[in-house]
Amino acid sequence: MKFFVDTAEVSDIRELAETGLIDGVTTNPSLIKKSGRDFIEVITEICSVTDGPVSAEVVATDAEGMLDEGRKLAAVADNIVIKLPLTWDGLKACRKFSDEGIATNVTLCFSANQALLAAKAGATYISPFIGRLDDLGTDGMELIEKIRVVYDNYGFETEILAASIRSAAHVEQCALIGADVATVPPAVLKSLAKHMLTDKGLEAFLKDWAATGQSI
Ligand code: G3P
Repeated sequence: MKFFVDTAEVSDIRELAETGLIDGVTTNPSLIKKSGRDFIEVITEICSVTDGPVSAEVVATDAEGMLDEGRKLAAVADNIVIKLPLTWDGLKACRKFSDEGIATNVTLCFSANQALLAAKAGATYISPFIGRLDDLGTDGMELIEKIRVVYDNYGFETEILAASIRSAAHVEQCALIGADVATVPPAVLKSLAKHMLTDKGLEAFLKDWAATGQSI
């Protein structure tokens, strides 16, 4: 499973990219607002920090406007992926970009039928939002399972980019189901390496090693 970082904070992206464990970045208008920076400026910098795909979202709601904004964003860097909302206009723009060979990430997906349409529109990635379904008391992971079955039934190449991830449990379940990508907030990503038994075990190893009086 590929790991994307879900943030527009360049310092976090840089820190995680240095581990060599990150495969890309996703942003959205809310994350850009949170960064407090100019959209094009921060996206340009993010594209210089990672060679992986960087999702940048259009804000137009009509297909023509999406195409116009998307082409401006695609011109920022070769690794830009155009993020489009899962609406009829978003699907129309996705189909056009796909025909032009421009990578797309169809976002705000909350049903298997929406994901089916995005695949038929040639989306490079589909972003089903797990956490926001959980927030409603429904099972967000069930959507990932359904999309996996639908895409495998028909051999769709669209990659399932699990989004709105809130916990390490979400990441584990995405990997068990077979999501292609998980886009993960920096704090959750860092938590994946943590386990209390690892910390305790290492502490005990180092204490016993110190008692040998040796060095390597
Ligand atoms: O990539 C989508 C993600 O940023 C949304 O997360 O927690 O606002 O649902 P959240």
